[in-house]
Amino acid sequence: MNKKITLLPGDGIGKEIMESAKVVLNTIASEYDHRFSFQEHAIGGDAIDRYGTPLPEDTIQACEDSDAVLLGAVGGPKWDGNPPHLRPEKGLLGIRKKLGLFANLRPVQGFSSLLHASPLKEEVIKGSDILIIRELTGGLYFGRPSERRNDGKEVVDTLAYSRQEMERIIEKGFQSAQIRNKQLTSVDKANVLESSRMWREIVEEKAKEFPDVKVEHLLVDAAAMKLITEPNRFDVIVTENLFGDILSDEASVLTGSLGMLPSASVRTDGVGLYEPVHGSAPDIQGKGIANPLGMILSVALMLRHSFHMEEEATEIEKAVNECLEQGYHTGDLDIKGGQKVGTKEMTQAVIENLTTKS
Ligand code: NAI
Ligand code: MG
Repeated sequence: MNKKITLLPGDGIGKEIMESAKVVLNTIASEYDHRFSFQEHAIGGDAIDRYGTPLPEDTIQACEDSDAVLLGAVGGPKWDGNPPHLRPEKGLLGIRKKLGLFANLRPVQGFSSLLHASPLKEEVIKGSDILIIRELTGGLYFGRPSERRNDGKEVVDTLAYSRQEMERIIEKGFQSAQIRNKQLTSVDKANVLESSRMWREIVEEKAKEFPDVKVEHLLVDAAAMKLITEPNRFDVIVTENLFGDILSDEASVLTGSLGMLPSASVRTDGVGLYEPVHGSAPDIQGKGIANPLGMILSVALMLRHSFHMEEEATEIEKAVNECLEQGYHTGDLDIKGGQKVGTKEMTQAVIENLTTKS
């Protein structure tokens, strides 16, 4: 298969882990006879420095013309004092919006060699494998009005959704559950919010189209509790923007390190933006010690969700797991008795596991 990928390394360790992504993609290309062409563009602080804007037109155009986008991270103390329109995050929010990426996918796994690194008990997180799907372009974060009123004595934010916005994200939830373990948890606050009552109705309607998927409804407060007391009970969780923001960060403690977590932001036609969950880590920038695994797992998500290369994606995930089992780890991971390595060595360990496979 021929695929065009736009690379947005961004700032800080974003540039370092993007190199790892390229090595992994080139390996997959030669092992499976695919052709990936890369075009690199600026975003975030890097783009502010070079072009005076966090999201240059060239970058938007390149993303729109490609099959998928891979992003490192944006931000850093250098731009913290900038006015709002010259903030690195503007670039990231802007490109998600421009591409209409309404579904944010965050898989969270309890890797067996990292179980002890989580603050939760090993027996609680063992075997957990959850996909959280968060609505990304609607709800409370975008509703208008959002303003101070009455000389600052009142304030309003608006939680607004159209039926169509709810339908498409809920459908994504069912589709994802169908190709995983066929269990969907819909999270809402239907005992209080009208938006949640409509959400729940739509889930019930959609359930008829996916008779093989088992559906449960959970209130968000109960879901928050069960996520860390019984993570094993979940397969796919689907929820609106605000609830998803909070639950996905909560779930990240299951893995033991921020450096391990991938994410995808996608739309209906399969185009997507893939990035690790962590930021630009200015404290370790340029030292060659950043954990590339969150980025490498994001590459796997890209292959699965944008290119339908399920086998290739699974091979990458297995190779990552094997590296950890062999004891390879970067400084952010606490693996007893293993071998502590840098970004390049960790990437090489993944490549070796990938290539000895076939
Ligand atoms: P951060 O995720 O960059 O770093 C938090 C801590 O985790 C740091 O100690 C860092 O060294 C460590 N860490 C993160 N990723 C790592 C990796 N791959 N390997 C090893 N250690 C890793 O979050 P922080 O420090 O709050 O933010 C730094 C900058 O990144 C800020 O400008 C922030 O706005 C931005 N940011 C960007 C995001 C994005 O591009 N999606 C997401 C979160 C923050
Ligand atoms: Mg968050």
